[in-house]
Amino acid sequence: MAIRTIHHLRHHLIHHLKPYHHSCLLLNSSVTPQTTASVLWRSVSHSSSIPETGVGSNLKDSSSKSLSNSSLNQTEVAKFAAIAETWWDYEGPFKPLHLMNPTRVSFIRSTLCRHFRRDPLCHQPFEGLKFIDVGCGGGILSEPLARMGATMTAIDAVDKNIQIARLHAETDPLTSSIEYSCTTAEQMVEEQQKKFDAVISLEVIEHVANPSEFCKSLAALTVPNGATIISTINRSVRSFATAIIAAEYLLNWLPKGTHQWSSFLTPEELVLILNRASISVEEMAGFVYNPLSGEWTLSDDISVNFIAFATKSNK
Ligand SMILES: C[S@@+](CC[C@H](N)C(=O)[O-])C[C@H]1O[C@@H](n2cnc3c(N)ncnc32)[C@H](O)[C@@H]1O
Repeated sequence: MAIRTIHHLRHHLIHHLKPYHHSCLLLNSSVTPQTTASVLWRSVSHSSSIPETGVGSNLKDSSSKSLSNSSLNQTEVAKFAAIAETWWDYEGPFKPLHLMNPTRVSFIRSTLCRHFRRDPLCHQPFEGLKFIDVGCGGGILSEPLARMGATMTAIDAVDKNIQIARLHAETDPLTSSIEYSCTTAEQMVEEQQKKFDAVISLEVIEHVANPSEFCKSLAALTVPNGATIISTINRSVRSFATAIIAAEYLLNWLPKGTHQWSSFLTPEELVLILNRASISVEEMAGFVYNPLSGEWTLSDDISVNFIAFATKSNK
């Protein structure tokens, strides 16, 4: 291992273990889940001095902390702007998302077909349904959903991501109708744009500034009885070892610093903040990587990567 990497690893360990100590305190039984969650959100908010390169120019200035961009964490968003060109490089930094995609699409297909009473075996089961992909990146998920017949809107805070997603989608008549836009969920809520039958946000919540407010915006974008799907990484000891140390430092799957362990949510915390936004989680599954086959499969093991299917109350 290069000395530079050891240095990075040491720095990262110190950086991550401080908040871990903090969140251990939260496990004290005298602390209610509500206070646990709200204290945790405060502990994970990061300040940033990174310039806004690549962040959509049509987004309102978030430095003034205007409500309409409350989910933006400039540090996180700048990381994605820096690697935007690599979205469709199957061997690049988004390789893990490309490898996971068939498995997460199959979870979405089966849960949403059941919820909307569609035939999962038909070619375009989502025909006539409006979906939004929040934090769509280069469109890795939006495209298969459009091919399954969904009327797709896809949004991301990084303008470069949206441009690349648009260019890629234009190459196929089945995906060219995806409506891409550089914006945030809360900005869409504020502008009172349309609502969606399903609101999907995969691998995004761990990068936003205020997960609780973010979930409220997702709820506001969902029709009554609509569906929400969220995937993220559990804040567990295993995720520290695998999603950060192994993926970023040993295997170099992801650029170093891609994830902040303290920003991960446990499944219980996700259920809690969704509940507060009138969304109830109906089903959860884990994603497990098989290093021999190089494939991801769905599993009951939610200790690292997990996905939740939830429904909005009928209000
Ligand atoms: C790990 S990528 C996931 C991309 C895509 N959802 C997928 O799974 O293929 C996270 C994405 O969320 C976007 N993002 C981060 N914060 C955001 C926010 N507050 N609102 C909208 N998009 C955001 C980033 O620009 C990035 O494209």
